[in-house]
Amino acid sequence: MPRVSMKVNGKTVSAEVEGRTLLSQFLREGLKMTGTHVGCDTSQCGACVVHMDGVPVKSCAVFAMDAEGAEVKTIEGMANADGTLSVIQQAFQDHHGLQCGFCTPGMVMSAAALLKENPKPTEAEVRHYLEGNICRCTGYHNIVKAVLAASGQDVSAIAAE
Ligand code: FES
Ligand code: FES
Repeated sequence: MPRVSMKVNGKTVSAEVEGRTLLSQFLREGLKMTGTHVGCDTSQCGACVVHMDGVPVKSCAVFAMDAEGAEVKTIEGMANADGTLSVIQQAFQDHHGLQCGFCTPGMVMSAAALLKENPKPTEAEVRHYLEGNICRCTGYHNIVKAVLAASGQDVSAIAAE
C-alpha cells in the first residue's frame, strides 16, 4: 500500500493507506481523531469540513493521498494552546449555536475559514457561506448569531431563539 505523510494540527503523521481511503476516514479511523464527523459521505452535509493548507475542504470528498504533504487542521486543533475554547467555539457555547452537536465541528471549521477571509461578515454573508453545512437541529439562527458574535460584532439586538 502507498504511504501518505501530512501534518495534522502541527504534528507530522505518516501511514500506509489504500488509494481509495478518504481523508475523513484517515483522520477518524487511521488517526482516531473522531472530532471530524461524517454525516453523509456524499459531500453535502459539511460535518467533515477541515482545513487543508488553510482552505476549508469537505474531507469526505478528498482522498487521503491527495493530502500528501499538506497542513491539515481539524476541530481538535481549534482550541487555544492552553486548552481553553477558541473565540469561535466560545461564541457557539455562549449563543447556543448547537443542540446535538453533530454539525458543530464542521460549522466551526467553516466559520473559522469565513472569518479569516471576511473578518466582519454581514448576517447574509454568514448564511451564504454556511450553505454547505447542514444542521438538523438549530434552524441556523443561533449558529449565525454565534459567528457574528465571534467576529466581534454586537449581537445583543438579535433575539435569542
Ligand atoms: S460527510 Fe462530508 S459532506 Fe457530509
Ligand atoms: S446541532 Fe444537531 S445537527 Fe446541528
